[in-house]
Amino acid sequence: MSNQLLANKRGIIFGALDEQSIAWHVAEKCVSQGAKITLTNAPVALRMGKIMELSEKLQAELIGADATSVEDLENLLNKSTEILGGKIDFILHSIGMSLNVRKGKHYTDSNYDFMQKTFDISAISFHKLMQSALKLDSIAEGGSVVALTYIAAQRVFPDYGEMAESKALLESFARSFGYHYGTLKKVRVNTISQSPTWTTAGSGVKGFKEFFDYADKMSPLGNASADACGDYCVALFSDLTKMVTMQNLYHDGGFSTMGMNPAILNL
Ligand SMILES: NC(=O)c1ccc[n+]([C@@H]2O[C@H](COP(=O)([O-])OP(=O)(O)OC[C@H]3O[C@@H](n4cnc5c(N)ncnc54)[C@H](O)[C@@H]3O)[C@@H](O)[C@H]2O)c1
Repeated sequence: MSNQLLANKRGIIFGALDEQSIAWHVAEKCVSQGAKITLTNAPVALRMGKIMELSEKLQAELIGADATSVEDLENLLNKSTEILGGKIDFILHSIGMSLNVRKGKHYTDSNYDFMQKTFDISAISFHKLMQSALKLDSIAEGGSVVALTYIAAQRVFPDYGEMAESKALLESFARSFGYHYGTLKKVRVNTISQSPTWTTAGSGVKGFKEFFDYADKMSPLGNASADACGDYCVALFSDLTKMVTMQNLYHDGGFSTMGMNPAILNL
């Protein structure tokens, strides 16, 4: 059902790789709610992923950008405002990748070059994006920027590795940049802390099935799906949440507030 909550709004969606990607669902929801968007991903993902299909389906232009490159981000912002015909109203940052996890390095034997690259891709890219947008004045007053995060920023999930620190950094950037962007341009900046979700990035974490099942049992509402995350993003991009900023918002079926759930004993 569409309420046209994003009618006349322009957006940029990062991170749709295939139909499992959370960003894929967010992009579909935004367009069904009336938004015009551009899609972006790293050049390698444009070659290997299925984002072309989404681009055709949604009639959304695809602009390659490595999120660690300020030059690429500036090009993306400039092209998007040109293609969409004005300043951007909302942006989704849906990017995560750990080199140490991918290369099977244990947390206590981390490679520091890998770690720095992980932080650059998964967290500093968020600061680079907002700094570029502010300098170019690409985001309209009252605009909304959202990044996706995970509760490993607050609690220990051993196999999540250095992504835990990446998410802590990401959430801190949302608060600190949210202050500046709010003061200067009335732009909102928030993070959504999403349930475990079956995606390329998610299932790359060791023991993901157990991780997923545990959270699903622990949460009174069960795990939040990528589709439901799309709905939540629409709400945050819409004019119905104009005073929400600098928050880390749990979208997890209640997981973050639970201590113990008897359902777990029957796992
Ligand atoms: N899947 C989960 O369980 C889960 C839970 C909470 C939060 N998240 C977060 O959601 C976000 C999206 O992940 P997903 O689960 O949809 O997986 P995904 O693998 O579909 O998406 C990750 C995206 O990051 C992109 N990316 C990697 N390096 C990049 C770079 N240098 N420049 C631009 N893009 C780059 C990938 O191409 C991919 O599209 C991530 O931030 C992830 O940490 C995922």
